[in-house]
Amino acid sequence: MCGIVGYLGKKQAAPILLGGLEKLEYRGYDSAGIAVLADSSLEIAKTVGKLQVLKDKLVDNLPAGYMGIGHTRWATHGKPSDTNAHPHTGCSDAFVVVHNGIIENYQKLKEWLINKGHTFKSETDTEVLPHLIEHHYKGDLAAAVQDMVRLLEGSYALAIMSTKEPDKIVAVRKDSPLVVGLGQEEYFLASDIPAILNHTRETYILEDGEMAVLTADGVTVYNSLGEKIVKEIFHVQWDIQAAERGGYPHFMLKEIFEQPRAIKDTTSGRINDAGIVDLGLQMTPTEIAKFEKIAVVACGTASYAGMVGKYVMEKMLRIPVEVDIASEFRYRDPLVDEKTLVLVISQSGETADTLAALREAKARKAKVVAITNVVGSSVSREADEVIYTWAGPEIAVASTKAYITQLVAIYLLSMHLAQAKGMISQHEAEELALAIKKLPELADEVLGQAANIELWAKSIAKWEDAFFIGRGIDFAVGLEGALKLKEISYIHAEAYAAGELKHGTLALIVDNIPVIALATQEALFDKMVSNIKEVKARGANVTAVAFAGNEEIQASVDQVIYLPKTLPILAPVLTVIPLQLLAYYAAVARGSDVDKPRNLAKSVTVE
Ligand code: F6R
Repeated sequence: MCGIVGYLGKKQAAPILLGGLEKLEYRGYDSAGIAVLADSSLEIAKTVGKLQVLKDKLVDNLPAGYMGIGHTRWATHGKPSDTNAHPHTGCSDAFVVVHNGIIENYQKLKEWLINKGHTFKSETDTEVLPHLIEHHYKGDLAAAVQDMVRLLEGSYALAIMSTKEPDKIVAVRKDSPLVVGLGQEEYFLASDIPAILNHTRETYILEDGEMAVLTADGVTVYNSLGEKIVKEIFHVQWDIQAAERGGYPHFMLKEIFEQPRAIKDTTSGRINDAGIVDLGLQMTPTEIAKFEKIAVVACGTASYAGMVGKYVMEKMLRIPVEVDIASEFRYRDPLVDEKTLVLVISQSGETADTLAALREAKARKAKVVAITNVVGSSVSREADEVIYTWAGPEIAVASTKAYITQLVAIYLLSMHLAQAKGMISQHEAEELALAIKKLPELADEVLGQAANIELWAKSIAKWEDAFFIGRGIDFAVGLEGALKLKEISYIHAEAYAAGELKHGTLALIVDNIPVIALATQEALFDKMVSNIKEVKARGANVTAVAFAGNEEIQASVDQVIYLPKTLPILAPVLTVIPLQLLAYYAAVARGSDVDKPRNLAKSVTVE
């Protein structure tokens, strides 16, 4: 996610803006910029790279002025570059904008503006905004902003200034956070509280559709109808470290709770109600038709997203899908050629083994499609085609929101390929589209059970071993559940295909040992119940994860976590959430360093 700051007051704005951006550095970003306005003269400084690069650039010529806006960018539309960095202006420098979020309909708006004679400089979705304000401006900046936001689909937090009204900053939001800081004759804006905490603890937390106008006389807040409203002041009690985590005790928990938002962003503008998927891929249906198999290559959690992908793609595309650990694939003389689609999955896009596997696949003339979270990463540059997950930066070492958005990207890709191959009916596509769009809401419902899951996790935290069992796609999710538990709580955990237990693992089942039985797949439900009985008979303490409506499972287990109903094929997106929470709360109960578990690094750039 990007970061926004703003300042209007009696001090020089630039040092305050840079100081605010510094406080947002923990979120990760690829470029930074500020705009300072002084008596109708606008100065913009922006650059790709760390904030320090911008600071070095400005060291002897800091823009002078008492109001300004600033931004740190995490690229989604357009690579990290000086031109794509914010702030953005329109055809002239009259209007300047910083933006967090994604404008879903920017392509349409851009074409419309180009037809009206506007010229664009960047590849970003954001640049349509200053052009739209230019188009709507009739002497009142706030009114022009109100007119513009009516045209926008997607999510945004915006801070806007104009040389035509050099006494104000206008800020507005929808589905992306924005906070106004209230100081003594000075006012602040930020997408995240840490950016203003050095200056004030008195804030207005803007709600969706609300617009704030900051002037020297104070801050006026309007609702989405343009009516003035009285906002309650929110006094921030957190210290700076807690504020960075949005009040959550750990980044991992924050990122788990960000998942509904991350799912929504990753589907944003890519699938319509008719089930048509647009991922911006260049492969033609003829090329797609010639693939005889798909090879998924990745490491760790990303490979487990790939395991879910195997079940999804084989079902939807009826071609073989192999999942390979990248460190194995690269040395195995793999059987891939120009008739193979290689799907590389990597949050960071920099994992050494994954990158080497990608190169190996390309050398063998396979078509490489990458799913990654980092625009401009090595994987994104070297793959033939890229699908970005829009999870935003993931800070906790244990991957959560990246995994869930990898799943979403896999569903979208599978639909796209199935459509190209004529293997999905209109009815199926619409049903899937509707169900995918509902996932953020359902994920929120699962998160609502966090308190119960915490209690359950505390009981499991006393054990040194745990088992995850499931069949089909549930088994694939079990692999991720076991990895999460191992890496942060240090409890030894294994995932087994439930039908495989009797071939050896049953020997490990002893009295009260925790077994997590994933039972979301209706077609396999009875078989799962039989496997549950096998472990119960040997004394295991079994927690089932099942869809609401399958209450009969209660009789066979010790406790059940119910998930809201979705299509069976989409179940992994919901099933994994209680498993992430289980790992998190068990780790907390055992006193582990949750965000930085021992022996692990966030990005593994060595072999
Ligand atoms: C586990 C985890 C790792 C990564 C793996 C691959 O929570 O994060 O298993 O999934 O190191 O990393 P990326 O996806 O960056 O290639």
